[in-house]
Amino acid sequence: MTRSGSSPKTVFSCTECGASAAKWQGQCPGCGVWNTLVETIAEAPPAAGARRFVALGGGSGGVQTLSEIEAREEDRLPTGIGEFDRALGGGLVAGGVVLIGGDPGIGKSTLLLQALAGLATNHPVLYVSGEESGQQIALRARRLSLVTGRLRLLAEINLERILATLQAVLPRVAVIDSIQTLWSEQLASAPGSVAQVRECAAQLTRLAKRAGITVILVGHVTKEGALAGPRVLEHIVDTVLYFEGDTHSSFRLIRAVKNRYGAVNEIGVFAMTDRGLKMVSNPSAIFLSQHGVDVPGSCVLVTQEGTRPLLVEVQALVDQAHGNPRRLTVGLDAQRLAMLLAVLHRHAGIACFDQDVFVNAVGGVKISEPAADLAVVLAIVSSLKNKSLPEKLVVFGEVGLAGEIRPAPRGQERLREAAKLGFTRALVPEANRPRRAAADIEVIPVRRVEEAVGRLRELE
Ligand code: TYD
Ligand code: MG
Repeated sequence: MTRSGSSPKTVFSCTECGASAAKWQGQCPGCGVWNTLVETIAEAPPAAGARRFVALGGGSGGVQTLSEIEAREEDRLPTGIGEFDRALGGGLVAGGVVLIGGDPGIGKSTLLLQALAGLATNHPVLYVSGEESGQQIALRARRLSLVTGRLRLLAEINLERILATLQAVLPRVAVIDSIQTLWSEQLASAPGSVAQVRECAAQLTRLAKRAGITVILVGHVTKEGALAGPRVLEHIVDTVLYFEGDTHSSFRLIRAVKNRYGAVNEIGVFAMTDRGLKMVSNPSAIFLSQHGVDVPGSCVLVTQEGTRPLLVEVQALVDQAHGNPRRLTVGLDAQRLAMLLAVLHRHAGIACFDQDVFVNAVGGVKISEPAADLAVVLAIVSSLKNKSLPEKLVVFGEVGLAGEIRPAPRGQERLREAAKLGFTRALVPEANRPRRAAADIEVIPVRRVEEAVGRLRELE
């Protein structure tokens, strides 16, 4: 069989259904989806490696019942950077593969260099850089005042050579910065292509499991917000962390979106300083903007990230539309905004169909929980009426299609955090009303969206 345009050892397989084809084609012959075929290596991994892998997995490798398998907690190796460990679920796990994604320049290399320098004092570690030269990294380490006596570095992009080095050096923790710069000799496609990224990650994962090395992969995020070779990579690795934050502000969030060894949605918070990333141990107030007087269109939300409540200012701007009205969100779900506008119209009689509506979560934070709904609605009403919300007010609650306000999880913790930061009033779902009245914060429970809008008027 001849295959033009590719090396003889590769096939093209579909990232959706796994069907394979000898030649690249636009549409998958299996599931009919377009543009899903990527080049992959045809052969299975070498038999010797596979055998060793099975042996590590559980004695005979045969069928067992769950009760026969000893369920022990993974030993964790803390990185010494508390906020990073928190996002990881307590620390690194031997043989675990962690993917850290984020925009270029957000601080991935900085964080990992700091973490490895700390680990290097007690454990063998290896930093593999395909992006920066040894000299650049040494300079950065010096600027960060890191102790680097035992931190080993390899500037290399060839996968086979990296694998050989890892096998020879056997570090406890290895960083690959970044997965997009690596290339395997076995594939014809260019570094950074989906095929290369996937193959390199798969090979590194295999080695990590076999040799018990913790491998941390750095992945750049494309403009669309997905990691290059998007879902493919997330499936291969054990833990996926994303760096978030506005590169213009100094705060950075690191969020777990997948974790086979711990909870997801835990976040770690850092500030980028001229001496690298510093932990922010009490971050609940960093997403409040700093304007002194209350302004229309601004509403403070108490959101819950993992086990941690955060106060975030939600800003809305509603303005006369010229032509098609525009709906834009930053850090919030755009589809949800359209839904909230419809609810606001149908249930509270407030129409925005001839208005542009822009909504922003301050500080580059991304909020995905529905408990943000009520804050978005009230910020919109406030901007439309050009009236600021009452002072020292916080809000949370989900808005349903029927106009009802649904409870948010961990309401009491949210209220406590708001009170701690000096807020004196909270507009919350009826179901989140505390059983005993809180001493330091006045709780205003609401059942429906029109009631919430009405209560605002009374509060003025
Ligand atoms: P970097 O870790 O190189 O980002 P990534 O690996 O995610 O692409 O971060 C680079 C940015 O961080 C760069 O814009 C400069 C800034 N920075 C600081 O502000 N302080 C520092 O101490 C360091 C090392 C970087
Ligand atoms: Mg980098």
